[in-house]
Amino acid sequence: MLDVKKIRNDFPMIKELEKKKAIYFDSAATSFKPQCVIDRVNEYYTKETANIHRGDYDLSFSVSDEYEKARETVRKFINAESSAEIVFTNGASSSLNLVAYGYGQKFLKEGDIILSTEAEHASNILPWFKVAEVTGATIEYIPLNKDGSFDIENLKKVMSDKVKVITLAHVSNVLGYIMPIKEIAKIAHEYNAVVVCDGAQSIPHIKTDVRDLDIDFLCFSSHKVLGPSGVGVMYGKYELLDKMDPFMLGGGSNARFDICGNILLKNPPFKFEAGTPCVEGVLGFKAALEYLMDIGMENVEANDRMLHKYFMDEITKLDNVEVYNKQSETSIVTFNVKNIFAQDVACYLNSKGIYVRSGNHCAKILLNVIGVSETIRASLYLYNTKEEIDYLVEVLKGVTLQKCIEAAL
Ligand code: ALA
Repeated sequence: MLDVKKIRNDFPMIKELEKKKAIYFDSAATSFKPQCVIDRVNEYYTKETANIHRGDYDLSFSVSDEYEKARETVRKFINAESSAEIVFTNGASSSLNLVAYGYGQKFLKEGDIILSTEAEHASNILPWFKVAEVTGATIEYIPLNKDGSFDIENLKKVMSDKVKVITLAHVSNVLGYIMPIKEIAKIAHEYNAVVVCDGAQSIPHIKTDVRDLDIDFLCFSSHKVLGPSGVGVMYGKYELLDKMDPFMLGGGSNARFDICGNILLKNPPFKFEAGTPCVEGVLGFKAALEYLMDIGMENVEANDRMLHKYFMDEITKLDNVEVYNKQSETSIVTFNVKNIFAQDVACYLNSKGIYVRSGNHCAKILLNVIGVSETIRASLYLYNTKEEIDYLVEVLKGVTLQKCIEAAL
């Protein structure tokens, strides 16, 4: 069991919201940061500011060392084989674009198939639209069940030698379903296809072992895992990273270049990291992952499931609410109040100090599956409590269109 009281005390934003009697249910959009992360970023600015891998003086040596230790912390967090497989980027979107450009655009050709789902976030489908446009490959969708959940049998039906990439979220950012990535990777590899996994919503909540799952690429952001914004990770198996192209060229990524335009790139991960990175963000990210490892990701996951079950049990008792992801297991609950537009309800909840996201959540083609384009999403993390869920459920019980109109005035 987590000591939630102690955890809440670690988060200045929680204390801030407590003063306002407000509740944050939008951690799938971004998470709050514990004090240790804020301190780490502050420390870099106040005591350690120097560029990395470029200065011939102690300050630069020591911060370069810290930066590389952060890479090792990420390696440990996802159990990658080598820290050379951890590429720092600007965020999950940046990482997914890097895979699509550096692997997809380089190796796919006309006739090849990219398999995905209609539940994907824009960041994991738009880059593949571009790959299809540039290479002549086509995108096909693994059929989902009516509630948006995944059935491995449907993958088996559409799998063929033409499939070169399967790209999907480990956890859907709208419905919170956990995809059976290990089984998907096994099937993909029987056909020599690679698996690109959007881990933006899974990494914060699920203990992830890339070697056990046998994922080829895993992309995620720091800001959803208690870390600073502006930092992400592209994990890739080394042999794949070695042969793929970088998205950007510049300082830090090349070993040498000459006047004739010959460029010798460094080995992974450095060939992908042109330009000065977000050093403070990476150091803060290390502190965030250490914070979570201290708590234990098994405990975070168990707490998540407990909160989710409680939330589902309570919200499904309401006659005026339709829940879209009753079979999900992570702490995302997606619903509508019957006959009231999602944004209007979200504004009403805001007037009651409850912060949720509403709309299509950047997954615009999921509408084709669940039949509704606008929903309300309440997403929780380790600092949320059952009492907060009770308050939301109580408020939802009394929502009417009239109250929503009054809240908007
Ligand atoms: N990708 C984030 C979300 O789903 C912003 O809310």
